[in-house]
Amino acid sequence: MAAELERQGRDLIHMGIGEPDFTAPQPVIDAAARAMADGRLQYTSALGLPALREAIAAHYRDVYGVDLSPARIVVTAGASAALLLACAALVEKGSEVLMPDPCYPCNRHFVAAFDGQAKLVVSGPEHRFQLSDAMVRENWGPATRGVLLASPSNPTGTSIDTEELRQIVGTVRGKGGFTIVDEIYHGLRYDAPPFSALSLGDDVIVINSFSKYFNMTGWRLGWLVVPEGLVPAIEKLAQNLFICPSSIAQHAALACFSPQTTSIYEARKQEFRRRRDYLVPALRELGFSVPVMPDGAFYIYADCSALSNDADQLTRAMLNEAGVVMVPGLDFGEHATRQYVRISYATSMDNLREAVARLKSFLAQARR
Ligand SMILES: Cc1ncc(COP(=O)(O)O)c(C=O)c1O
Repeated sequence: MAAELERQGRDLIHMGIGEPDFTAPQPVIDAAARAMADGRLQYTSALGLPALREAIAAHYRDVYGVDLSPARIVVTAGASAALLLACAALVEKGSEVLMPDPCYPCNRHFVAAFDGQAKLVVSGPEHRFQLSDAMVRENWGPATRGVLLASPSNPTGTSIDTEELRQIVGTVRGKGGFTIVDEIYHGLRYDAPPFSALSLGDDVIVINSFSKYFNMTGWRLGWLVVPEGLVPAIEKLAQNLFICPSSIAQHAALACFSPQTTSIYEARKQEFRRRRDYLVPALRELGFSVPVMPDGAFYIYADCSALSNDADQLTRAMLNEAGVVMVPGLDFGEHATRQYVRISYATSMDNLREAVARLKSFLAQARR
């Protein structure tokens, strides 16, 4: 609907979009240009360029203090291909996979693609919208094979408590299941020192991407870390499904980890934080409730029940009457979806201020 209105010439402020408004920094663009000029554009190994797998391993050492063999790193076409490969390797017909409700909508479809079934477990604000160990135990049934989490989460921007995650991993391990942790928003975590689920054991499967922190959405590049024993199966799947990830994107991504590029990314992360710190109180003033302070990503999952009893209708009205785009909770699960909207602050501070002003007059008018 927003795209259609824009085609008609409407001026909209996009707070629905799940991608950074920043694009790849200059050193990354330069690296891509060099790869093109040098003709380094052929297929690569299905698992990715060895140099990039080593650079990712070094990233884990430098940022997380995790010593990781590059042999366990599989470079993929974004976190999407990483999720697909993980599900292809682990989900069998009838397998049930636990995931929080709300969560990233594609997760249930990745599981369904391999004839498995997502079991959405209601995860409210009291659990930071994440699964708890008790919830995993309660919901684990005879067909359950694993757990799929994202931290920080889309749509809530909230991270799972480290101790809780440690317990979940222990419980799942005890049941012989798999834990997949999607860390795609990891670089964008504001309030805690970096901690990767990889620290919890070699059996934890971790997904990450160049899309969000590294601002490279359209380049289609991410990675998957798997136990060493799973690499041959994943390699076969990757060869057959994709041949390899984009070679130009891989050469460009090698420039992501230099001190110069890192300082650009860290400055951008601080800008995201500044926006969150502006927007959360502004939303509360408008009448939205933000029950858990998001600590990462660029999302706020706001309770709009004081403004409307139907988030779907409210988002339509905000779009049509205020020209502000948000995503209704309906996209992210089945529970309390009419109570929540996802608000992305991946847009400029000026746009956020303008959106708040527009919403203020829209809501004042709606109350009349
Ligand atoms: C939680 C989560 N996982 C995975 C993805 C897929 O990202 P990509 O394939 O661009 O790396 C997204 C995209 O929004 C996401 O929010």
